[in-house]
Amino acid sequence: MSRPPEDVLLEIKGLKTYFFTEEGVVKAIESVDIEVYKSETLGLVGESGSGKSVTALSILGIVPDPPGKILDGQVVFHGQDLRHLSDADMRKIRGNQIAMIFQDPMTSLNPVFTVGDQISEAIMLHQKVSKKEAKEKSIKIMSLVGIPSADERVDNYPFEFSGGMRQRVMIAMALSCNPELLIADEPSTSLDVTIQAQILELLKATSEEFDMSIILITHDMGVIAEMCDRVAVMYAGYICEIGDIMIIFKSPFHPYTRGLLGAIPRPDAEREDLTIIRGAIPNLINPPSACRFHPRCDYFMQGLCDVILPSIIEVEPGHDIRCHIYTEEGKAWMQKHGQQREIGKIPIGKAIN
Ligand SMILES: Nc1ncnc2c1ncn2[C@@H]1O[C@H](COP(=O)(O)OP(=O)(O)OP(=O)(O)O)[C@@H](O)[C@H]1O
Ligand SMILES: [Mg+2]
Repeated sequence: MSRPPEDVLLEIKGLKTYFFTEEGVVKAIESVDIEVYKSETLGLVGESGSGKSVTALSILGIVPDPPGKILDGQVVFHGQDLRHLSDADMRKIRGNQIAMIFQDPMTSLNPVFTVGDQISEAIMLHQKVSKKEAKEKSIKIMSLVGIPSADERVDNYPFEFSGGMRQRVMIAMALSCNPELLIADEPSTSLDVTIQAQILELLKATSEEFDMSIILITHDMGVIAEMCDRVAVMYAGYICEIGDIMIIFKSPFHPYTRGLLGAIPRPDAEREDLTIIRGAIPNLINPPSACRFHPRCDYFMQGLCDVILPSIIEVEPGHDIRCHIYTEEGKAWMQKHGQQREIGKIPIGKAIN
């Protein structure tokens, strides 16, 4: 922990979430530890299937059950473990103190109600206001998120909005109760690039205005660089690296982060310069033993990475890594085998200033 406890808004400790399916047990989240600080934007990045959305659903206590189950860990928000709250108390927190924006706004909006009714309902669920007041608040928040003629648009149905505008409605709904934490799961991937930039800009501005923390889930390292203060890199159910955005972009310590950053096309790089992480994310019913990244890793230490899960090492204040390159066991392995495993510094970060 690099900040005083009063700066921590949410702390996830040892989270473990599995899905018990007919094909077998999907070990989606094996052990996740993340702290979210007050007023920060934390990026959560990783390839498809790494467990980003399941982490978000686990925080909110909405993992589909069956087949999903949170088996272990704590989700501490304002000093209380959300896992121990009753359903009724958890509902009060959801939408009120912690809100979420899902990837596809069409599936989250009800097609048979006007957007005004839906935002008003979210407001009335958590605040003691009349229907009229809720509608006025809805119009205000719709204008705030950049929906033109909000006083007329409030009576429109979701299908009357474009994709970008629907995503704004979702953001308006999420912001309507001034949440302290917003979890945005790929909030802009289904949109074209200019709208995507506008939505991200809007999120940034509102987080500053509302003094709100954001967990921004994306597989886009460019979006992370643009938006976040810190980043947590996730792979197959573990956080493999977490720290300040500048530090991680300049010198990633984990081979997986290095691979992810190396895969970003840059105008100044030749095509051959792009590093591709070989292989694919494993099936989580039978994941690789110990460090789940080991079959894809260029720094693999046989007999160690496939046998012992690396513990979390704080390589510098506020920068944590789960990789044997930095553990005592790893150092002993290198000495014994007379082989060095060193991650080069600043391999690809020169384009980020
Ligand atoms: N309802 C479910 N039943 C069974 N397995 C599931 C379920 N939901 C998620 N999983 C599995 O959990 C793992 C993590 O999935 P998750 O949706 O969190 O990935 P993600 O990182 O959000 O990926 P993406 O970038 O594609 O959204 C995957 O192996 C996925 O198949
Ligand atoms: Mg997802």
